[in-house]
Amino acid sequence: KRVVLAYSGGLDTSVIAKWLQVTYNCEVVTFTADLGQGEEIEPARQKARLMGIPDEHIYIEDVREEFVRDFVFPMFRANARYEGDYLLGTSIARPLISKRLIEIARETGADAIAHGATGKGNDQVRFELSAYALDPDIKVIAPWREWDLGSRSALIEWAEKHQISVPKDKRGESPFSTDANLLHTSSEGKVLEDPWEETPDYVYSRTVNPEDAPDTPEYIEIGFDKGDGISLNGKAMSPATLLTELNELGRKHGIGRLDLVENRFVGMKSRGMYETPGGTIYAAAHRGIEQITLDRGAAHLKDELMPKYAELIYNGFWFSPEREMLQAAIDHSQERVNGAVRLKLYKGLASVVGRKSPDSLYSERHVTFEDDAGAYDQQDAQGFIKLNALRLRLLAQRDGK
Ligand code: ARG
Ligand code: SIN
Repeated sequence: KRVVLAYSGGLDTSVIAKWLQVTYNCEVVTFTADLGQGEEIEPARQKARLMGIPDEHIYIEDVREEFVRDFVFPMFRANARYEGDYLLGTSIARPLISKRLIEIARETGADAIAHGATGKGNDQVRFELSAYALDPDIKVIAPWREWDLGSRSALIEWAEKHQISVPKDKRGESPFSTDANLLHTSSEGKVLEDPWEETPDYVYSRTVNPEDAPDTPEYIEIGFDKGDGISLNGKAMSPATLLTELNELGRKHGIGRLDLVENRFVGMKSRGMYETPGGTIYAAAHRGIEQITLDRGAAHLKDELMPKYAELIYNGFWFSPEREMLQAAIDHSQERVNGAVRLKLYKGLASVVGRKSPDSLYSERHVTFEDDAGAYDQQDAQGFIKLNALRLRLLAQRDGK
Protein backbone atom coordinates (compact mmCIF):
# COMPACT_ATOMS: atom_id res chain seq x y z
CA LYS A 1 0.00 0.00 0.00
CA ARG A 2 1.24 3.44 -0.96
CA VAL A 3 0.06 6.97 -0.20
CA VAL A 4 1.11 10.32 -1.69
CA LEU A 5 1.37 13.04 0.94
CA ALA A 6 1.29 16.80 0.38
CA TYR A 7 4.47 17.44 2.35
CA SER A 8 5.74 20.88 3.34
CA GLY A 9 8.70 19.60 5.30
CA GLY A 10 7.38 21.32 8.41
CA LEU A 11 6.68 19.71 11.74
CA ASP A 12 3.01 18.92 11.17
CA THR A 13 3.38 17.14 7.86
CA SER A 14 6.52 15.37 9.11
CA VAL A 15 4.48 13.93 11.95
CA ILE A 16 1.82 12.98 9.40
CA ALA A 17 4.37 11.17 7.21
CA LYS A 18 5.59 9.14 10.16
CA TRP A 19 2.07 8.58 11.45
CA LEU A 20 1.02 7.16 8.06
CA GLN A 21 3.94 4.75 8.12
CA VAL A 22 3.20 3.64 11.68
CA THR A 23 -0.60 3.60 11.60
CA TYR A 24 -1.30 2.34 8.10
CA ASN A 25 1.96 0.47 7.69
CA CYS A 26 2.16 1.93 4.20
CA GLU A 27 4.82 3.43 1.96
CA VAL A 28 4.76 7.20 1.89
CA VAL A 29 5.50 9.21 -1.25
CA THR A 30 6.09 12.90 -0.53
CA PHE A 31 5.21 15.83 -2.75
CA THR A 32 6.70 19.20 -1.88
CA ALA A 33 5.85 22.14 -4.12
CA ASP A 34 7.47 25.52 -4.46
CA LEU A 35 4.43 27.72 -4.90
CA GLY A 36 6.42 30.80 -4.04
CA GLN A 37 5.89 30.48 -0.28
CA GLY A 38 9.35 31.98 0.22
CA GLU A 39 10.80 28.99 2.03
CA GLU A 40 13.45 26.60 0.82
CA ILE A 41 11.91 23.31 -0.32
CA GLU A 42 15.13 21.33 -0.65
CA PRO A 43 15.39 20.65 3.12
CA ALA A 44 12.24 18.54 2.71
CA ARG A 45 14.32 16.00 0.77
CA GLN A 46 16.66 15.32 3.66
CA LYS A 47 13.78 15.13 6.14
CA ALA A 48 11.95 12.63 3.94
CA ARG A 49 15.11 10.54 3.59
CA LEU A 50 15.45 10.44 7.37
CA MET A 51 12.03 8.80 7.51
CA GLY A 52 13.30 6.08 5.23
CA ILE A 53 11.59 7.31 2.08
CA PRO A 54 13.57 6.31 -1.03
CA ASP A 55 14.70 9.09 -3.40
CA GLU A 56 12.39 7.99 -6.21
CA HIS A 57 9.46 8.59 -3.86
CA ILE A 58 10.47 12.12 -2.91
CA TYR A 59 8.95 14.64 -5.30
CA ILE A 60 10.16 18.24 -5.04
CA GLU A 61 8.95 20.63 -7.72
CA ASP A 62 8.90 24.28 -8.61
CA VAL A 63 5.34 24.89 -9.80
CA ARG A 64 5.34 28.69 -9.61
CA GLU A 65 4.89 29.31 -13.34
CA GLU A 66 2.08 26.79 -13.64
CA PHE A 67 0.42 28.21 -10.52
CA VAL A 68 0.30 31.77 -11.83
CA ARG A 69 -0.31 30.96 -15.51
CA ASP A 70 -3.00 28.30 -15.16
CA PHE A 71 -4.68 29.20 -11.88
CA VAL A 72 -4.01 32.74 -10.63
CA PHE A 73 -4.28 34.59 -13.96
CA PRO A 74 -7.45 32.79 -15.13
CA MET A 75 -9.03 33.64 -11.76
CA PHE A 76 -7.99 37.30 -12.00
CA ARG A 77 -9.58 37.53 -15.46
CA ALA A 78 -12.83 37.29 -13.52
CA ASN A 79 -11.82 39.93 -10.94
CA ALA A 80 -12.72 37.27 -8.38
CA ARG A 81 -13.15 38.25 -4.75
CA TYR A 82 -14.91 36.11 -2.17
CA GLU A 83 -17.42 38.02 -0.04
CA GLY A 84 -16.34 41.26 -1.62
CA ASP A 85 -12.74 41.28 -0.45
CA TYR A 86 -10.78 38.02 -0.30
CA LEU A 87 -8.53 37.47 -3.33
CA LEU A 88 -8.61 33.67 -2.76
CA GLY A 89 -4.87 33.16 -2.37
CA THR A 90 -5.13 29.87 -0.49
CA SER A 91 -8.22 28.60 -2.30
CA ILE A 92 -6.63 28.80 -5.76
CA ALA A 93 -3.49 26.85 -4.79
CA ARG A 94 -5.27 23.73 -3.55
CA PRO A 95 -6.53 22.41 -6.92
CA LEU A 96 -2.97 22.53 -8.32
CA ILE A 97 -1.59 20.58 -5.36
CA SER A 98 -4.33 17.97 -5.66
CA LYS A 99 -3.76 17.64 -9.39
CA ARG A 100 -0.08 16.83 -8.81
CA LEU A 101 -0.94 14.45 -5.95
CA ILE A 102 -3.19 12.47 -8.27
CA GLU A 103 -0.65 12.46 -11.11
CA ILE A 104 2.08 11.26 -8.74
CA ALA A 105 -0.23 8.59 -7.35
CA ARG A 106 -0.64 7.27 -10.89
CA GLU A 107 3.11 7.38 -11.56
CA THR A 108 4.01 5.56 -8.36
CA GLY A 109 1.10 3.14 -8.25
CA ALA A 110 -0.32 4.65 -5.06
CA ASP A 111 -4.02 4.25 -4.29
CA ALA A 112 -4.33 7.02 -1.70
CA ILE A 113 -3.38 10.63 -1.04
CA ALA A 114 -3.02 12.46 2.29
CA HIS A 115 -2.98 16.11 3.36
CA GLY A 116 -2.40 18.12 6.52
CA ALA A 117 -5.57 20.21 6.60
CA THR A 118 -7.78 20.07 9.68
CA GLY A 119 -11.35 18.84 9.83
CA LYS A 120 -12.63 22.34 10.57
CA GLY A 121 -11.54 24.20 7.50
CA ASN A 122 -12.02 24.80 3.82
CA ASP A 123 -8.75 23.30 2.70
CA GLN A 124 -9.75 19.68 3.38
CA VAL A 125 -12.77 20.24 1.14
CA ARG A 126 -10.73 21.80 -1.65
CA PHE A 127 -8.03 19.11 -1.62
CA GLU A 128 -10.54 16.32 -1.62
CA LEU A 129 -13.14 17.65 -4.08
CA SER A 130 -10.29 18.29 -6.54
CA ALA A 131 -8.86 14.82 -5.97
CA TYR A 132 -12.18 13.02 -6.42
CA ALA A 133 -12.94 15.06 -9.55
CA LEU A 134 -9.67 13.86 -11.09
CA ASP A 135 -9.78 10.30 -9.76
CA PRO A 136 -13.14 8.98 -8.60
CA ASP A 137 -11.59 5.95 -6.89
CA ILE A 138 -8.79 7.65 -4.98
CA LYS A 139 -8.65 7.09 -1.23
CA VAL A 140 -8.06 10.12 0.97
CA ILE A 141 -6.41 10.09 4.37
CA ALA A 142 -6.80 13.22 6.49
CA PRO A 143 -4.87 12.49 9.71
CA TRP A 144 -6.16 15.58 11.53
CA ARG A 145 -9.65 14.06 11.36
CA GLU A 146 -8.47 10.69 12.60
CA TRP A 147 -5.77 10.89 15.19
CA ASP A 148 -6.03 11.98 18.81
CA LEU A 149 -3.14 14.45 18.68
CA GLY A 150 -5.56 17.23 19.39
CA SER A 151 -3.14 19.64 21.01
CA ARG A 152 0.22 21.09 20.09
CA SER A 153 1.91 19.43 23.03
CA ALA A 154 0.48 16.01 22.13
CA LEU A 155 1.80 16.44 18.60
CA ILE A 156 5.28 17.40 19.83
CA GLU A 157 5.34 14.52 22.30
CA TRP A 158 4.41 12.09 19.53
CA ALA A 159 7.10 13.60 17.25
CA GLU A 160 9.80 13.16 19.88
CA LYS A 161 8.73 9.63 20.64
CA HIS A 162 9.17 8.81 16.94
CA GLN A 163 12.52 10.56 16.42
CA ILE A 164 11.19 13.50 14.42
CA SER A 165 13.26 16.58 15.13
CA VAL A 166 11.26 19.43 16.59
CA PRO A 167 12.66 22.91 15.86
CA LYS A 168 13.21 24.95 19.02
CA ASP A 169 10.73 27.64 18.04
CA LYS A 170 8.03 25.00 17.57
CA ARG A 171 8.19 23.76 21.14
CA GLY A 172 5.78 26.30 22.52
CA GLU A 173 2.35 27.06 21.19
CA SER A 174 2.56 28.09 17.56
CA PRO A 175 1.53 31.77 17.42
CA PHE A 176 -0.98 31.37 14.58
CA SER A 177 -1.72 29.25 11.53
CA THR A 178 -0.39 30.44 8.19
CA ASP A 179 -0.47 29.50 4.55
CA ALA A 180 1.74 31.18 1.96
CA ASN A 181 2.35 31.15 -1.78
CA LEU A 182 3.28 33.59 -4.55
CA LEU A 183 -0.17 35.19 -4.37
CA HIS A 184 -0.63 35.67 -0.63
CA THR A 185 0.05 34.84 2.96
CA SER A 186 -2.87 34.11 5.24
CA SER A 187 -2.87 33.98 9.01
CA GLU A 188 -5.60 32.62 11.24
CA GLY A 189 -6.07 31.46 14.81
CA LYS A 190 -4.64 32.32 18.21
CA VAL A 191 -4.25 36.11 18.60
CA LEU A 192 -6.56 36.62 15.63
CA GLU A 193 -9.46 34.64 17.05
CA ASP A 194 -11.03 37.66 18.77
CA PRO A 195 -12.47 39.67 15.86
CA TRP A 196 -12.52 42.83 18.00
CA GLU A 197 -8.74 42.78 18.53
CA GLU A 198 -6.62 44.55 15.93
CA THR A 199 -4.06 42.33 14.20
CA PRO A 200 -0.71 42.85 15.94
CA ASP A 201 2.19 44.07 13.81
CA TYR A 202 4.21 40.87 14.12
CA VAL A 203 1.60 38.90 12.18
CA TYR A 204 2.50 40.74 8.96
CA SER A 205 5.36 39.15 7.06
CA ARG A 206 5.42 40.49 3.51
CA THR A 207 4.34 44.12 3.54
CA VAL A 208 5.66 47.13 5.40
CA ASN A 209 3.20 49.04 7.49
CA PRO A 210 1.65 51.62 5.12
CA GLU A 211 2.41 54.22 7.78
CA ASP A 212 6.12 53.49 7.31
CA ALA A 213 5.99 53.25 3.50
CA PRO A 214 7.88 55.77 1.32
CA ASP A 215 6.56 59.34 1.33
CA THR A 216 6.94 59.64 -2.42
CA PRO A 217 4.60 57.74 -4.74
CA GLU A 218 5.95 55.31 -7.33
CA TYR A 219 4.47 55.04 -10.82
CA ILE A 220 4.40 51.73 -12.67
CA GLU A 221 2.95 50.45 -15.95
CA ILE A 222 1.50 46.97 -16.47
CA GLY A 223 0.88 45.67 -19.99
CA PHE A 224 -2.01 43.29 -20.78
CA ASP A 225 -2.69 40.82 -23.57
CA LYS A 226 -6.08 39.07 -23.69
CA GLY A 227 -6.70 39.91 -20.05
CA ASP A 228 -3.36 38.61 -18.75
CA GLY A 229 -0.44 40.70 -17.53
CA ILE A 230 2.57 40.40 -19.84
CA SER A 231 4.92 43.24 -18.91
CA LEU A 232 6.05 45.64 -16.22
CA ASN A 233 7.36 49.10 -17.18
CA GLY A 234 7.68 47.95 -20.77
CA LYS A 235 9.68 44.85 -19.97
CA ALA A 236 8.11 41.51 -20.99
CA MET A 237 7.77 39.02 -18.13
CA SER A 238 6.47 35.52 -17.48
CA PRO A 239 3.40 35.30 -15.23
CA ALA A 240 5.33 34.20 -12.12
CA THR A 241 8.06 36.79 -12.69
CA LEU A 242 5.51 39.56 -13.06
CA LEU A 243 3.74 38.57 -9.86
CA THR A 244 7.07 38.29 -8.02
CA GLU A 245 8.04 41.82 -9.11
CA LEU A 246 4.64 43.20 -8.14
CA ASN A 247 4.98 41.52 -4.74
CA GLU A 248 8.22 43.42 -4.17
CA LEU A 249 6.55 46.72 -5.10
CA GLY A 250 3.57 45.90 -2.91
CA ARG A 251 5.80 45.02 0.01
CA LYS A 252 7.62 48.33 -0.22
CA HIS A 253 4.45 50.43 -0.38
CA GLY A 254 2.44 48.44 2.17
CA ILE A 255 -0.20 47.33 -0.33
CA GLY A 256 -2.66 44.44 0.03
CA ARG A 257 -3.30 44.00 3.74
CA LEU A 258 -6.76 42.71 4.60
CA ASP A 259 -8.44 41.91 7.91
CA LEU A 260 -11.55 39.84 7.21
CA VAL A 261 -14.23 37.76 8.90
CA GLU A 262 -15.41 35.26 6.30
CA ASN A 263 -17.88 32.40 6.05
CA ARG A 264 -16.17 29.03 5.74
CA PHE A 265 -17.86 26.42 3.55
CA VAL A 266 -18.25 24.10 6.54
CA GLY A 267 -20.42 26.65 8.29
CA MET A 268 -18.54 28.71 10.84
CA LYS A 269 -17.20 32.21 10.51
CA SER A 270 -13.47 32.69 10.77
CA ARG A 271 -11.31 35.76 11.13
CA GLY A 272 -8.19 35.98 9.02
CA MET A 273 -5.51 38.40 8.02
CA TYR A 274 -4.29 38.37 4.45
CA GLU A 275 -1.37 39.97 2.67
CA THR A 276 -1.72 39.97 -1.11
CA PRO A 277 0.73 42.66 -2.23
CA GLY A 278 1.26 41.91 -5.93
CA GLY A 279 -2.22 40.47 -6.41
CA THR A 280 -3.85 43.64 -5.10
CA ILE A 281 -1.89 45.79 -7.57
CA TYR A 282 -2.62 43.34 -10.38
CA ALA A 283 -6.36 43.25 -9.60
CA ALA A 284 -6.58 47.05 -9.74
CA ALA A 285 -4.66 47.11 -13.03
CA HIS A 286 -6.87 44.43 -14.59
CA ARG A 287 -10.01 46.38 -13.77
CA GLY A 288 -8.33 49.45 -15.18
CA ILE A 289 -7.70 47.88 -18.57
CA GLU A 290 -11.21 46.40 -18.67
CA GLN A 291 -12.65 49.89 -18.12
CA ILE A 292 -11.70 50.97 -21.63
CA THR A 293 -11.76 47.66 -23.50
CA LEU A 294 -14.92 45.88 -22.29
CA ASP A 295 -18.36 46.67 -23.56
CA ARG A 296 -20.83 47.63 -20.83
CA GLY A 297 -23.08 44.60 -21.34
CA ALA A 298 -20.16 42.19 -21.19
CA ALA A 299 -18.61 44.00 -18.22
CA HIS A 300 -21.82 44.03 -16.17
CA LEU A 301 -22.60 40.39 -16.91
CA LYS A 302 -19.09 39.49 -15.80
CA ASP A 303 -19.61 41.38 -12.58
CA GLU A 304 -22.83 39.46 -11.97
CA LEU A 305 -21.15 36.11 -12.58
CA MET A 306 -18.16 36.96 -10.41
CA PRO A 307 -19.58 36.23 -6.93
CA LYS A 308 -20.73 32.79 -8.11
CA TYR A 309 -17.35 32.09 -9.70
CA ALA A 310 -15.47 33.23 -6.58
CA GLU A 311 -17.67 31.09 -4.36
CA LEU A 312 -16.99 28.02 -6.52
CA ILE A 313 -13.25 28.52 -6.08
CA TYR A 314 -13.59 29.21 -2.37
CA ASN A 315 -15.71 26.10 -1.86
CA GLY A 316 -13.30 23.85 -3.76
CA PHE A 317 -15.13 23.38 -7.05
CA TRP A 318 -12.29 24.43 -9.39
CA PHE A 319 -12.59 21.12 -11.24
CA SER A 320 -16.33 21.29 -11.88
CA PRO A 321 -18.39 21.77 -15.03
CA GLU A 322 -19.96 24.97 -13.70
CA ARG A 323 -16.60 26.60 -12.99
CA GLU A 324 -15.42 25.60 -16.47
CA MET A 325 -18.58 27.03 -18.05
CA LEU A 326 -18.06 30.34 -16.29
CA GLN A 327 -14.37 30.29 -17.19
CA ALA A 328 -15.23 29.87 -20.88
CA ALA A 329 -17.49 32.92 -20.73
CA ILE A 330 -14.93 34.97 -18.82
CA ASP A 331 -12.08 34.00 -21.14
CA HIS A 332 -14.21 34.88 -24.16
CA SER A 333 -14.75 38.36 -22.71
CA GLN A 334 -10.98 38.91 -22.53
CA GLU A 335 -10.28 38.62 -26.29
CA ARG A 336 -9.74 42.38 -26.69
CA VAL A 337 -8.56 43.19 -23.16
CA ASN A 338 -5.22 44.49 -24.40
CA GLY A 339 -3.20 47.57 -23.56
CA ALA A 340 -1.47 49.16 -20.63
CA VAL A 341 -2.39 50.58 -17.24
CA ARG A 342 -0.45 53.12 -15.25
CA LEU A 343 -0.70 52.93 -11.47
CA LYS A 344 0.42 55.05 -8.60
CA LEU A 345 1.62 53.14 -5.54
CA TYR A 346 1.49 55.12 -2.36
CA LYS A 347 1.13 54.21 1.32
CA GLY A 348 -1.04 51.12 1.05
CA LEU A 349 -2.86 52.09 -2.12
CA ALA A 350 -2.55 51.02 -5.74
CA SER A 351 -4.51 53.58 -7.77
CA VAL A 352 -5.11 53.39 -11.48
CA VAL A 353 -4.12 56.76 -12.93
CA GLY A 354 -3.98 55.97 -16.64
CA ARG A 355 -5.06 53.40 -19.25
CA LYS A 356 -4.51 53.03 -22.99
CA SER A 357 -5.35 50.35 -25.53
CA PRO A 358 -5.30 49.65 -29.26
CA ASP A 359 -8.74 48.09 -28.62
CA SER A 360 -10.19 50.96 -26.64
CA LEU A 361 -13.93 51.64 -26.78
CA TYR A 362 -13.43 55.00 -25.15
CA SER A 363 -14.43 57.74 -27.59
CA GLU A 364 -13.31 61.17 -26.55
CA ARG A 365 -15.26 62.57 -29.49
CA HIS A 366 -18.50 61.23 -28.06
CA VAL A 367 -17.94 62.08 -24.45
CA THR A 368 -16.40 65.53 -24.75
CA PHE A 369 -18.16 68.54 -23.28
CA GLU A 370 -16.56 70.58 -26.04
CA ASP A 371 -17.70 70.66 -29.69
CA ASP A 372 -18.11 67.04 -30.82
CA ALA A 373 -18.44 67.81 -34.54
CA GLY A 374 -21.78 66.00 -34.81
CA ALA A 375 -20.70 62.69 -33.27
CA TYR A 376 -23.65 62.66 -30.92
CA ASP A 377 -27.09 64.17 -31.35
CA GLN A 378 -28.34 65.43 -27.99
CA GLN A 379 -31.91 65.45 -29.37
CA ASP A 380 -31.82 61.63 -29.34
CA ALA A 381 -31.66 61.66 -25.54
CA GLN A 382 -35.12 63.19 -25.22
CA GLY A 383 -37.04 60.20 -26.64
CA PHE A 384 -34.67 57.82 -24.87
CA ILE A 385 -35.57 59.34 -21.52
CA LYS A 386 -39.29 59.66 -22.35
CA LEU A 387 -39.73 55.97 -23.11
CA ASN A 388 -37.66 54.94 -20.12
CA ALA A 389 -39.85 57.21 -17.99
CA LEU A 390 -43.14 55.87 -19.34
CA ARG A 391 -43.73 53.16 -16.73
CA LEU A 392 -42.52 55.42 -13.92
CA ARG A 393 -45.09 58.02 -14.97
CA LEU A 394 -47.89 55.43 -15.19
CA LEU A 395 -46.99 54.27 -11.69
CA ALA A 396 -46.91 57.82 -10.38
CA GLN A 397 -50.32 58.52 -11.95
CA ARG A 398 -51.87 55.41 -10.42
CA ASP A 399 -50.43 56.12 -7.01
CA GLY A 400 -51.69 59.69 -7.13
CA LYS A 401 -48.36 61.42 -6.83
N1 ARG B 1 -9.41 31.20 5.13
C1 ARG B 1 -8.55 31.09 3.99
C2 ARG B 1 -9.21 30.21 2.96
O1 ARG B 1 -10.07 29.45 3.30
C3 ARG B 1 -7.18 30.60 4.35
C4 ARG B 1 -7.10 29.18 4.87
C5 ARG B 1 -5.73 28.64 5.14
N2 ARG B 1 -5.01 29.48 6.00
C6 ARG B 1 -4.39 29.14 7.12
N3 ARG B 1 -3.93 30.10 7.85
N4 ARG B 1 -4.26 27.92 7.52
O2 ARG B 1 -8.88 30.24 1.80
C1 SIN C 1 -7.11 24.16 7.98
O1 SIN C 1 -8.16 23.82 8.53
O2 SIN C 1 -6.24 23.35 7.70
C2 SIN C 1 -6.86 25.64 7.65
C3 SIN C 1 -8.09 26.48 7.61
C4 SIN C 1 -9.00 26.22 6.44
O3 SIN C 1 -8.79 25.30 5.68
O4 SIN C 1 -9.99 26.96 6.28
